Amino acid sequence: MKTTDVREDIPLLKDVIYLDAASTTPTPRPVVEAMCDYFYNYNANTGRGAYHLTVKATHKLDEARNRIAKFVNSDPNEIIFTKNTTEAINMVAHGLEFKKGDNIITSNMEHHSNLVPWLKLQKQGVEVKIVKADEQGIIDPGAIDKAADENTRLITISHISNSIGSVQPVDEISEVAENKGIFCLVDAAQSAGHTELDLKKLRADFVAFPGHKGFLGPVGTGFLYCANQAQDQMEPLNLGGGTVDNVTEEDFQLAESPTCFEGGTQNIAGFIGLGEAMNYLERIGISKIEKHSKKLTRIMYQEIQDIEKVRVYGSPENIYGIVSFNIDKINPHDLAKILDEVKSICVRSGFHCAMPSIRHMGAYEFGGTVRASVHYYNTQEEIEILGETLKDVSKFLG
Ligand SMILES: Cc1ncc(COP(=O)(O)O)c(C=O)c1O
Repeated sequence: MKTTDVREDIPLLKDVIYLDAASTTPTPRPVVEAMCDYFYNYNANTGRGAYHLTVKATHKLDEARNRIAKFVNSDPNEIIFTKNTTEAINMVAHGLEFKKGDNIITSNMEHHSNLVPWLKLQKQGVEVKIVKADEQGIIDPGAIDKAADENTRLITISHISNSIGSVQPVDEISEVAENKGIFCLVDAAQSAGHTELDLKKLRADFVAFPGHKGFLGPVGTGFLYCANQAQDQMEPLNLGGGTVDNVTEEDFQLAESPTCFEGGTQNIAGFIGLGEAMNYLERIGISKIEKHSKKLTRIMYQEIQDIEKVRVYGSPENIYGIVSFNIDKINPHDLAKILDEVKSICVRSGFHCAMPSIRHMGAYEFGGTVRASVHYYNTQEEIEILGETLKDVSKFLG
C-alpha cells in the first residue's frame, strides 16, 4: 500500500495537515469497519455465555489478541488489554510488589505516565533514581548500569522520547537489566507501529503499548506485554468478574494470564479494531513505514532548522518521528494556533506531559515546545508546507 492509498482510507486528511501522530493517529476505514461489524452484527459480551453472538464475539476477540501477539512476536497470553499506555504502566506499578528500601531506575526523558506512578511509590519508601540524559536527550546504558545495585527492582525507560523524539538504546538497557536480574519495563508509546518491535529479541519483562498511536488502532485501546516469566509476580489491578476460576464465600482462585488481569467487560469493539489495525500495518509493511517516516523526519528537521531564530531539540541522527522546536520566544500554543488558522496544520504544543525532559532540554522558560510528528499517511509536500508556513510566520513576527 502506498501513502496515497492510506490517505484514501482516512477522510479527515483531505481537510487538514495532521502532524500529531505522537498524540494519537486518525483511524483508517478498515479498522472503523471492523468495529462497525461488531456493533451491527454481533454486539455481545465475551467469555460469558453459550449463545451464538457471544461465541462469535469471544472468537473475534481471541483472534485479535492472537493477531496482536504475532505482530510483536509474543505469546497471546502475554498480551493484556488496557485502555492506553498509561494503564499498562500503572498495571506494573500496582502489580509488582515494592518494599521499603527497593529502588526503581528511570530517566529525566520520560512521559509523566512513566514517572508519576513511580514517584508515588516514593511515599512508601521506594527510592526513584533518575538517570539524566545527555544534551541531545539520549540516555547512556552505562549510567543505568552504574545506578543499578542489589536493591534495584525495576528499570523503566521509554523507547522514544515523546517530547523531542530521541531514540533510546533500549536493547542495551534491557540487557543491563537481564544481566543483573532486574525487571525491565519499556514504554513503547512512541515506537509502536513506527519500527519493528520483536519482543523475543528485546527481552524486556514488560512493554507498555498504545493501540491508538503508531498502530493506527482506535482510541481507548492499549496493551501490556507481560512476559511469561514475570506473570506470577504480578497482581491484577482490577479484581472481579472474569478474573477468577473459582470463588467461594471465603476465597477465590485467580485465572491464568491474561484473563486474571482483565477485570470486567473489555473494550471489545476497540480491540477487534486494533487486531484489524495490525492487518492494515502488515499490508503497508513496517519497514516501509519506517523508511518513509525517517525520510520525513529528516526533511522536517532540515526545513525547521533553516528558520531564523529557531531552536530545534535533539540531533537529526538520533531522533525519529518527532521534531520539537521553538521560534524565538513565541509561545508554543500561539504558534500552534497560528499554524492551524493559516494552513490547518495540527501540531502539539506545550510541555507534552513530560515536564522534566522539557526542563532538561532548556525549553521550560518558553512554555515548552511546538512538536510536529509524522506517520506513513503524511507526505513530503505537507512537510514543505509546514516549513514554508513557519518561515512566513517567523518573518512576520520577527
Ligand atoms: C512516551 C509516552 N508514554 C506514555 C504515554 C501515554 O500514552 P497513553 O495516552 O496511551 O496513555 C505517551 C503519550 O503520548 C507517551 O508519548
